[in-house]
Amino acid sequence: MKYRVIYILFLIYLAGKAEAQYNQLTIPDTISGTTFDLTARDTFKQMMSGNQTITAGINGNWWGPTLMWNKGDVVHITVHNQLQDTTTIHWHGMHLPAIMDGGPHQTIPPYTDWSPYWQISNNAGLYWYHPHLHEEALHQVTSGLGGLIIVRDSTESSLPLPRTYGVDDIPLVLTDRRFDGSNQLVDAPYGDSMLVNGTMRAQYNIPAQVVRMRILNAATERSYNIGFSDNRTFYIIATDGGLVDAPIAVTRLLLSVGERIEILVDCSGQQGTSFDMKSYNANLPQGTPGDEPVNFAAPFGNALGDIDFNMLHLNVTAATSNPITAIPTSLVSNSFYSASSAQLTRTVTISDSAIAPPGPTFMLNRRFFDLNYIDYTVPLDHTEIWDIVSTSTFSHPFHIHDVQFYILSRNGVPAPSYEQGWKDVTLIKGGEEVKFIAKFSDYSDSLHPYMFHCHIAAHEDLGMMGQFVVGSSPAGLRNVVNNKMKLYPNPGTGKLYFEMKDNISIAEAVIMNPNGQAVLMSNPNAGKGVLDVSSLSNGVYFIKLLDTEGQSYIKSYLKE
Ligand code: C2O
Ligand code: CU
Ligand code: CU
Repeated sequence: MKYRVIYILFLIYLAGKAEAQYNQLTIPDTISGTTFDLTARDTFKQMMSGNQTITAGINGNWWGPTLMWNKGDVVHITVHNQLQDTTTIHWHGMHLPAIMDGGPHQTIPPYTDWSPYWQISNNAGLYWYHPHLHEEALHQVTSGLGGLIIVRDSTESSLPLPRTYGVDDIPLVLTDRRFDGSNQLVDAPYGDSMLVNGTMRAQYNIPAQVVRMRILNAATERSYNIGFSDNRTFYIIATDGGLVDAPIAVTRLLLSVGERIEILVDCSGQQGTSFDMKSYNANLPQGTPGDEPVNFAAPFGNALGDIDFNMLHLNVTAATSNPITAIPTSLVSNSFYSASSAQLTRTVTISDSAIAPPGPTFMLNRRFFDLNYIDYTVPLDHTEIWDIVSTSTFSHPFHIHDVQFYILSRNGVPAPSYEQGWKDVTLIKGGEEVKFIAKFSDYSDSLHPYMFHCHIAAHEDLGMMGQFVVGSSPAGLRNVVNNKMKLYPNPGTGKLYFEMKDNISIAEAVIMNPNGQAVLMSNPNAGKGVLDVSSLSNGVYFIKLLDTEGQSYIKSYLKE
């Protein structure tokens, strides 16, 4: 009897220990409305026992709030940069004016603000925001900067889908990090610890009904081959740019960096059970990001490479009062562009360069990124096929700004059904040829480019990126330097001060409207000057300074 009690106590102890190995999943806060304040700052977080970890966060100490946007609304965002570093914030997946895009050209110096605004025209779906400073993406993303965006629209809202945030509609940000011996983050291609929403060994309670999971791969390099420990079927309802026509049943889904997927998981009648969301990364095809085992050459070998590992432990609890209990049979009817509507096909090559140990680095169109080189000028309203041809030995998640595309073919045959939706990132495997079609509408701006690049942070930083403008010839952009000019206050009203670094003397200062027409000019003939902008109507302008040698410097300015 006595031994029996001890044995039962021992079992209870074991059960308690099993529970204790999990941490409660953090669900990011939400902000809704039409004005948003985001403050990026250096901070720290208790990520594991022992030392706190130095991190950066947006309105917090890791990652940022989920922004809830409605299609049709005009959103005004102010990004306050309280980091000790310049940064940018890019709205990944959004269709918007190039100057609001937050790419490498829209830099926000330390202790300054940036205030983009535009009208949301994207479909309901999951998008995200993250830093995009050239050569600093790996470092700034590693530190924890970024956040989710959920767009809602009337089409999605009318469907019988789960949408109670954090209850039956669960945001899941998948990433992994490497820590040093004192618990500090290491800028590395792969981590040894899995994080979901910044939580290590995460668990979460989900109700016994149909649950929606909105999943982002926010890793720096790894692809996650998502599945569940009981091999259950789950249903894809949305790709990067919104809902698919009808749910697609799968048991595995390879999600690459930058890609999003929304799935339904049916837990009806399963109260009291538990299962795991896992990444089945053992035996991934060679060259898939994440297939490098632990003993692979540094810095690529990692504890999660080439194995199956747990991401999230799920406990099924009582159903909510108004549960969704069925997987819908159809969702929306998308109309994608047909190949015959394309006015032009562009070929983009992906290749391995010969340099940079410990491995090759990678190129687009056989060149490295240059902030002042425009690869393409896309006429406004053009429908184009982009033919991505890879001779690389590695797989690369290819991403394009401004548009959502539709994949016409993968190696000459239609893409698998789970890729037949709106996309802005797709994995191009070594040696593959992928054709997608997109339309470049609404925003033309010959001065401000959009990016296309590999979304693996280290590849992007090493120059696996190109840029295009939508509109007329980018003549004014070549040889333009913008890191020599200080403009303040920006945004501003009344007076606009400018100042040049390196004793550059300004012969002419011009304020242009977005169409490139001069609206104000002055001849300061010095390294500093002031323009009275009070007569200008509110909106976006470009300030162009010409130095005494004829070199031009251009920056954007928001008159408020
Ligand atoms: Cu997710 Cu160019 O970005
Ligand atoms: Cu993007
Ligand atoms: Cu790459």
